[in-house]
Amino acid sequence: MAATTDAVPGQPVDSEATVLPELRSVWWESGLRARADAGILTVFAELPRLADAAFRVSWQANRTRTVIVGVATVLAGVMSTFGLLATQRVLIGLFTAGPTPGRVRAALPALFVLAVLTAIRAGLGSATGFAENGLTPLVDQQVQRRLFETTTVVRLESFDQDAFADEMERAWRGCESTTQLVQATMNLLAGTVGVLAVTAAVVVIHPLLLAALVLATVPSAWAALRAGHLQYQTYLAGTVRRRRLWLLNHLMAVRQPATELRSYGLRGFLLDQYDRVMNAETVIQLRLARRVTITTSIGAAVGGIATTAVYVLLGILLLDDQIPLSAAATGVIAVQVAQRALASVTYQIDRLYTEGRHFRDYTDFMDRAEQYLPAASGSKDPQALHTLNIDRVTLAYPDRDTPAVADVSLTIQAGQTVAFVGENGSGKTTLAAIIAGLRTPDSGSIRWNQTPIEELDPDALRRRITVVSQKFYEWPFSAATNIAMGDIDTPPDQDRIENAALEAAAHDMILDLPYGYATMLDRTFAQGQDLSGGQWQRITAARGFLRNTDFLIMDEPSAALDARAEAALFNTVKARQGSKTTILITHRLANVRHADTIYVMHQGRLAETGTHRQLLTQQGLYADWYHLQKLGYTDDE
Ligand SMILES: Nc1ncnc2c1ncn2[C@@H]1O[C@H](COP(=O)(O)OP(=O)(O)OP(=O)(O)O)[C@@H](O)[C@H]1O
Ligand SMILES: [Mg+2]
Repeated sequence: MAATTDAVPGQPVDSEATVLPELRSVWWESGLRARADAGILTVFAELPRLADAAFRVSWQANRTRTVIVGVATVLAGVMSTFGLLATQRVLIGLFTAGPTPGRVRAALPALFVLAVLTAIRAGLGSATGFAENGLTPLVDQQVQRRLFETTTVVRLESFDQDAFADEMERAWRGCESTTQLVQATMNLLAGTVGVLAVTAAVVVIHPLLLAALVLATVPSAWAALRAGHLQYQTYLAGTVRRRRLWLLNHLMAVRQPATELRSYGLRGFLLDQYDRVMNAETVIQLRLARRVTITTSIGAAVGGIATTAVYVLLGILLLDDQIPLSAAATGVIAVQVAQRALASVTYQIDRLYTEGRHFRDYTDFMDRAEQYLPAASGSKDPQALHTLNIDRVTLAYPDRDTPAVADVSLTIQAGQTVAFVGENGSGKTTLAAIIAGLRTPDSGSIRWNQTPIEELDPDALRRRITVVSQKFYEWPFSAATNIAMGDIDTPPDQDRIENAALEAAAHDMILDLPYGYATMLDRTFAQGQDLSGGQWQRITAARGFLRNTDFLIMDEPSAALDARAEAALFNTVKARQGSKTTILITHRLANVRHADTIYVMHQGRLAETGTHRQLLTQQGLYADWYHLQKLGYTDDE
């Protein structure tokens, strides 16, 4: 890490730089940054494309609701125009010469029209709200499901690519932006229609009023955009603080690090980190807050002066008999309506642009994910295994100079138990993943009963293979479900689950849990329980046994098991020998003595091959390790 390379031996390192070095710019900042960096023209140029994207998503989610929102919004705008015109008619009636009752009577028809228009507008507003509320969850569901459909199908290798993982995270943020984008688009449409409505009404009343309107609203619109810009910058600066806080929150207030935090006495150290982060960021926040206040004040002042100027202009026109009193009064109302509509438009433009950038991360990711989809797969149905040929397979992980598996060839016959042994990092897990079809080798081939596995239906092939992983996941489900997941396509059967648990020495331990097989294995749930490392391992082994395929790969299945559980597990494995095929990966060599063939891996290559006896006579790596382990047990006798 760059921050630690500066450390001078013997000198204390700068703890802030070491622990919380400059944070990488992350996915959810990019939209904000783009908005902060973009000029106002760039924003306007992007708007039509973004609005179009939002419309498409909304249309796909639900056509009826999209149409309702669109039509109701435009109609509401039209109603505003007529509303302003009706207002003017009311004012004309009221301002005509004559006795008051007569003037009121003259204004009555227009008042009635105004009331009807207002009622229709309110109805349209409710319709829009109703349609929009229903649209939001539909849009959410659609984009999220599409994302999950992709993330669960892409090749395993894609998770090793940094860029891909970053993009996936960004896409998730983009998902959340979609409804925001749709809403901003609808609101922008409403705001724009509102502005146009006022403009139309004003032109009909008196064209000169339009000049007054522009004069009064443009400066405040500019001020609003500018203030929005600064506010986003403030938010942007705050994001760093929030991320650091999130990091510290994770370290100080979450379960996993809690033990080490206490055992190493890290409390004061982490609280000090917190103070540093907060103090530094608060200064930035205050500085930005000042700038925002100044800008908004200038904006408000300019807007105020412009509005005053409009009123003065209206007064002059009025005194000069250029416009009637009713038009001037309508003008005052129009200016206020226009200012409100324009303020909303500028805000929505800001929002649309920022959310639109996130949404684009989502669509970019979906496009990019295409290249990570599994290669066009075969359709042949794999028959029960009789011979598995692995021919010169090589696989290198991204950014690694040496391959994790290099030029490995071996043949496994049905019914055999074979073992992969070797030092940490020698490539055993990687080789197992290649054999299971989970990773595609860079070169070499694998043949299942002489058919290259690319020609086989991958789902059908996976159904014939069980992999009990070294790095298993602790699924937050009940004990029963955790085991039943081994054969998720078959409805769970309690007897089957218990048999599998018995084979993995998990049955008694599960019965001892507060709710037996129904116990939730995650503390997040009410009455959820946590298991010890070895107990978890028994559950995962049980899942593998329940799957009960002819071909089983067990990667370090006993690393955390006690002696009795280990013996039980290997007895089950041994019972398969002769009828079913097993690949066993373990460091405890006593457990592989019975294997038909033991493959010794060293730095990605096959270093030795043979039975236990043959390998001992070879006096190579295997013999060395075996004697070392044996010594550990015989020394004290
Ligand atoms: N996803 C990955 N990305 C990059 N390198 C990896 C990845 N997984 C494993 N490696 C590297 O590949 C090499 C082989 O790893 P592998 O997990 O196959 O070893 P192993 O023999 O199973 O080791 P162990 O006995 O510790 O389980 C190691 O050098 C490891 O650091
Ligand atoms: Mg491994």
